[in-house]
Amino acid sequence: MADKINNFQELINKAKVVLVANRQQLYTVPSKGLYPHQVLWDGCFVAIGLSHIELDQAKSEIGRLLSAQWQNGMIPHIVFTEGPHYWWDRRIWRSWVSPLAPKKIATSGVSQPPMLAEAIVAIGKQLSDLDKIAWYKSVFLQMVAYHQWLVRERDPKGEGLVVQLHPWEIALDTTPPCIAQVREEALPLWIRFLEVTNLEKIGDHFRVDTKYVQSKGQRSSNIESLALYNLLRKIRSSKYDSSKILSRPAFAVQDITYNSIFIRANSLLLEVAKDINEALPRELLDFSAKAATSIDKFWDQQDCQYYSREFVSGKLIKEPSIGALLPLYSGAISASRAEQLVKTLSDRDSFNLNYPVPSVPANSQWFNSTRYWQGPTWINTNWLIISGLRRYGFDDQADTLTKSTLKLVQKSGFYEYFDPISGQPSGVNNFSWTAALVIDLAST
Ligand code: GLC
Repeated sequence: MADKINNFQELINKAKVVLVANRQQLYTVPSKGLYPHQVLWDGCFVAIGLSHIELDQAKSEIGRLLSAQWQNGMIPHIVFTEGPHYWWDRRIWRSWVSPLAPKKIATSGVSQPPMLAEAIVAIGKQLSDLDKIAWYKSVFLQMVAYHQWLVRERDPKGEGLVVQLHPWEIALDTTPPCIAQVREEALPLWIRFLEVTNLEKIGDHFRVDTKYVQSKGQRSSNIESLALYNLLRKIRSSKYDSSKILSRPAFAVQDITYNSIFIRANSLLLEVAKDINEALPRELLDFSAKAATSIDKFWDQQDCQYYSREFVSGKLIKEPSIGALLPLYSGAISASRAEQLVKTLSDRDSFNLNYPVPSVPANSQWFNSTRYWQGPTWINTNWLIISGLRRYGFDDQADTLTKSTLKLVQKSGFYEYFDPISGQPSGVNNFSWTAALVIDLAST
């Protein structure tokens, strides 16, 4: 470990500068220009990185996320920065349409992959035993309410899998399974019309995100963006009420990455509970007990591959993406399945490119090395895979991926994502989770 820190000390120092630059006192935003609000899984990754260097700030990040918890237990995916400048951003979501939203702070109306337990435990690991217990006690009840919300409202059929209602909730927004599903179920006629007439190009004038990147081809297409906003409008009109939305869902996917993270989060919450001599509610224990059979529902025997699943029909969405590897992170698959995933990871035709791991395998028809979640390498998914590899004892593979990840950032900077073939940076620069996870990978 000391060796690793020495080799990457300069990189760690630069990463700290990025994090401080994106800080708004109590919390850190993903990147000052394009994403000026606190975002749930970004905030968790930031806290994981900060746990090595600024523990109080790491706790403060989590504290702010928890302060935005809804009365039903949901932790929203965006906690807005205050001030007149961001009036429009808050109005897009209008969390106040729901009676369950917090009154004092504006938020979004959906959640994001449940990385909170991982961040809380990462902080706990850096504390003395006494401080750790106090820390865990301070967050426990809210964490239980959050996980209970997921089980109660997002697993209405009791399948042991939770459903997501918007690609932004999945957070791998435009990965092929999300967009394939949006195209099939949630593309209204007026958007189709704009597409076939090419009128969608007018959208170029309204796009803000493309101004922060080197080329607009690195972002989602106008049609994809319009479809996602249209879907947001729909769930907002149901006041973000899960059961109402699920009675006639336009988009309802059991995402494999989200579910893998939730399975892991539940086992971490159990560790927290044990450390403070508390018991978890029955429904969370029952949910966890089903994890191995639940995750098997994502497995396709014919293709020997994991896919996300359509909630209503239970059909697999047979579009490969990085999600195919994420069951490694869940810890709930068998050793032989894990071995199979390690083989997939090392396949030169799919995931093992020059700068792994691409968000979509190279042999997929969707693969585009620079476009958002449709090909580039992201540091957070690498981090999840590394964590999973270690849990299954694949330390050599984990070390190799850690090194290639750190070298990629060393070569190309703290960007949002990277071309897996050339290593060239894409998306926005000075991206917080890239910086934070570099600190974690170089320090552990
Ligand atoms: C993008 C990503 C999402 C992330 C957000 C803020 O929307 O898809 O995962 O949380 O940006 O960085």
